[in-house]
Amino acid sequence: MLSSKEIRQIFIDFFRERGHIFIPSSPVIPWDDPTLLFANAGMNQFKNIFLGIKEPEVKRAVNTQKCIRAGGKHNDLEAVGKDGYHHTFFEMLGNWSFGDYYKKEAIEWAWELLTVVYQLPKEKLFATVHNSDEESYNLWKNNTDIDLSHIFYCGDKDNFWEMGETGPCGPCTEIHYDCGIEHCTKKDIPDHKCQLNGNCNRFIELWNLVFIQYNREENGSLSPLKSRYVDTGAGFERLVRILQNAYSNYETDLFMPIIDKISQMSGVPYNPESAMSFRVIADHIRCLCFALADGGFPSNEGRGYVLRRILRRAARHGRLLGFSEPFMFHLVDPVIEIMSESFPELKGKEAYLKMVIKAEEERFNATLDKGLEIFDQICANSTGKVIPGKDAFQLYDTYGFPLDLTINLAEERGFKVDTAGFEEEMKKQRERARKSSKFNYKWEDMDWIELLPSTATEFVGYDTFNLEANIQRYRIDDEGKIHLQLDRTPFYAESGGQIADTGRIYNEDFELEVIDVKKIEEQFIHIGHIIKGAISSPLVKAEIDLKRRKDIARNHTATHILHRALKMVLGEYVQQKGSYVAPDYLRFDFTHLKALTQDEINRVEDIVNEIVKENRPVHIDIKDINEARSDGAIALFGEKYGQKVRVVSVENFSKELCGGTHISATGEIGLFKILSESSSSAGIRRIEAVTGRGAEKYVRSLQERIANLASMLNVPEKMIETRLENLQNRITELEDELKKKEQKNSSFEVDRLLDKIAEYPDFRLLCATVEAEPEKLRELGDILKDRAKDAISLLFTIDGEKITVLCVVGRDLMDKFNAGKIVKAVSQKLNGKGGGRADSAMGGGKNPEKLSELMPRIPDIVRSTL
Ligand code: ALA
Repeated sequence: MLSSKEIRQIFIDFFRERGHIFIPSSPVIPWDDPTLLFANAGMNQFKNIFLGIKEPEVKRAVNTQKCIRAGGKHNDLEAVGKDGYHHTFFEMLGNWSFGDYYKKEAIEWAWELLTVVYQLPKEKLFATVHNSDEESYNLWKNNTDIDLSHIFYCGDKDNFWEMGETGPCGPCTEIHYDCGIEHCTKKDIPDHKCQLNGNCNRFIELWNLVFIQYNREENGSLSPLKSRYVDTGAGFERLVRILQNAYSNYETDLFMPIIDKISQMSGVPYNPESAMSFRVIADHIRCLCFALADGGFPSNEGRGYVLRRILRRAARHGRLLGFSEPFMFHLVDPVIEIMSESFPELKGKEAYLKMVIKAEEERFNATLDKGLEIFDQICANSTGKVIPGKDAFQLYDTYGFPLDLTINLAEERGFKVDTAGFEEEMKKQRERARKSSKFNYKWEDMDWIELLPSTATEFVGYDTFNLEANIQRYRIDDEGKIHLQLDRTPFYAESGGQIADTGRIYNEDFELEVIDVKKIEEQFIHIGHIIKGAISSPLVKAEIDLKRRKDIARNHTATHILHRALKMVLGEYVQQKGSYVAPDYLRFDFTHLKALTQDEINRVEDIVNEIVKENRPVHIDIKDINEARSDGAIALFGEKYGQKVRVVSVENFSKELCGGTHISATGEIGLFKILSESSSSAGIRRIEAVTGRGAEKYVRSLQERIANLASMLNVPEKMIETRLENLQNRITELEDELKKKEQKNSSFEVDRLLDKIAEYPDFRLLCATVEAEPEKLRELGDILKDRAKDAISLLFTIDGEKITVLCVVGRDLMDKFNAGKIVKAVSQKLNGKGGGRADSAMGGGKNPEKLSELMPRIPDIVRSTL
C-alpha cells in the first residue's frame, strides 16, 4: 500500500516529468490578499498571473497547497467530523498551465495519472462537464477510455468555479469517485437515488479541472482574461483514503497517529459512536498547527476569531471524550511528525505551537468552567427537569457550550433540553447578526501556565542590570502578548511615577522583547512579544535596556532636586501632588495657587543646574521610618511606608523616601531645562522638563526651529528680530493705505448715491440697494449723514434670503423725522424687526423679491411715522 508521502510525491513527479516546475505552497494566511480569510485553493498564489498583473515565471507549475476552508466563500467548518471527507485544513494537489496547454492535456493527464499510475478502477470514476463545454465532453469521450455513461453535463452551481466574491473563475470539469453503496447516508429515504453532487456520501469529488477564462468583477459581471489558464485541484486526503482503501479520510496514515494519541490519552476507543469527536479534534489540530506556524493567532477578530472558534470546537469535543484539562497541545507532536517533511515550515515551531494552543485551551476551560457553574444554577432553578431553550442558548452564546454538550450534561442529571426553544433563540441571534458567541475575557482572569512554584519576585535591579533567573509561570493575552513571572529580576516595575524598564528575557529556546513590567502584589509580571522561538524551560537571562534606564534615572533624580528648588523659590508649603518619570521627559505636579512668573521659573532652573554642576553625590540608605522622618526626609502624603524605608538624598540638598532608580552623582543629569509650566487642576501647577539626552534633543530642536525661521524670512539668524519688526511696520503701513483707499471708494459710491436722491414736496429721499457688508453699510451711512444733510437715506443690502436696511436722517431734518421709527416701519413690511437712534438705525427682514414692490411705497411709509 502506498504511503501518503509516496502518493504526494507521485503526483508531483508525474507533472514534473511533463515539464511542470514545483512551486512550494504559499502560507495559509494570505498576508497580501485582504479579500481572502485563508488560502482556500492552490491557485490563490497565482491570482495575479491569471489577472494579467504579473508575468508568469514558468509556463507550467505543480504543487501541493495548504488550504483552510473555514470562512468566506468556501467554508466547510460545520461539515467537519459529520462526514469523513470534509476538512478545515487540507492539501490541494494541483497542476497549472499559464497560457500554455489547455483542456486536452489537462483531461488526458488527469485520467492517465488516476487510472494508469495510481491504478484506480475506471468503473468507479465519473466526470462532469459544464453545460456549455462540449469541447471537454468530447475530450472525455474521444481521448480517454472512461465509460461513456459516466460523463454528465451540469450547470454553474457544480461546474463553474470561482475563487471568491471577486477574482479569476471559469467552467470546470470534475472527476468523482464512487465509494460504494455502503457509504450512502440516505438509504432509508424512500425513492432516494445516489448521484453525483447528491450529498449522500457515496460519490465524492476527487479532482477539479478549472479552465480559468474570466475575472468576476466587484459589480458581479464577468470580464474575459487576456489568456486561458488551467487550474486544477485534487483533494489529497481523499486520494489517500481511496488509495489506502480506508473507510474515510481519517483512517489513513495522515490522521491515524493523531487519532491513536487521542484515544490513548482519553482512554476512549475510536469507534462509530465516538468518531465525530475524534475527527473534529484531529482535523482542527492540523488546521491550528498550520495557521499558527504561518503567523495566525487566536483572537476576537477576523482570522484570529475563526482560529479561536476552531480551537474551541475541538476543545469541547475533547470534553465529550472526557478531557477536562488542556490536551490538544499534546497532539502537536504527531502533526509535526506526519507533516513536517513535506512542510518544513513546521520544524522548530513545536514549542511555540504547544505554548499558544495550551494557553488558548486554558482560557477556554476557564470560560467553560464558569458555564458549568451557570449550568448547575439552571438545574437548581428548573422545575420540570427541563433546561429552557433560553438558558441553553445563554450557555452557548456566553460560555461557548454547544447544544450537544448541554444535552449530555443534562442527561447525566436526568434533565431534558428544550431544543426547539434553543433553535428559536438561535434564529433570533442569527437575525441579530454576527455578534454571536463572542467570548468576553479579561486577561486578568486568564490562567497561568506553571513551570515552577510561584513566589514573591526578588527585585535586584538597583545595581544589577542583567542576571540569570527562572520563569515561574506565564500566560498569553488576547493580543498575543506574553506575561511572564520571574523569581528574581533586574526590571523595575512601574511605580511611584517612574515608568517600567524595557529589555529582553531569553534563553536558547526563545527571546522575549519586554515592553512593560507590572507589579501585582509581590510578583513582577514582564509583558512583551516573543520575537524568537517559544518558552519551554524555565532558566533564562533577563537584561534591561541600560541606556534607557540611565535616562529615566537622570529624570528621577532631577525630579527630587526640582521639588527642593520649588520649595526654595516659592515657599516650604509646596507639596508634590504627582509625578511621571519617563526616559524622554519628566512631569511634576505640585501645590501652588498661581502661575509661576518667568523670573521664578528661571530661578528654579538655575538652582537645579547649580546642583548639577556641583556634581553632588546621591546617597541611598535604608533606614528606620522614624529615623528617616526625624532626619527631615520628605515622605509623600497618602503613601504607605513600611518600617524600613529607602531614603534617597542629594548630598546636603534634598532627602526623600523613594523606591525609584537614581544616578550616583548629580553631574550625570547634564542639563536641566523646563519646557512648560501650566495649570494641572485647581491649585495645582504642572512643570514639564527634560534632562540629559532629552535636553540635548530639545536644544537641538530649538536651533533647528530658529534656522528654519531664518530661512523662511530669508535673513541671517541674528537678523530675525529686525526682519520681523520691519515686516510688522510694513503691515501697519499697508493696512493704513488700504483703509484710505476704501474710504475713497466709499465716497465715490456716495457720490453715485447722491444722484439718486428724489425730491418730494415734504422731504428729499434717497432709496437704494447697495452691495455691501453691514460694516460697510454703516460707513456709507456715516458719510451720507454729512453729505446729505437735507435728506433721508434708506440703504438696503441683500444676502440670500436676508435683507438688511439702514436709515440715516440728515441733520436738517432731525427735528421732524426719526430714523429708528422709519426703520421699524420698513422692517415690519419686510416681515422683520429693526430700530435704533433718531439719526441712524438698522433693521432687517426677509423676502427680497418683495423689495421692488415696496420701494414706491417708501415715501408714504416715512410719512406714516410722523
Ligand atoms: N481552484 C480549483 C478548486 O479549488 C481547482 O477547486
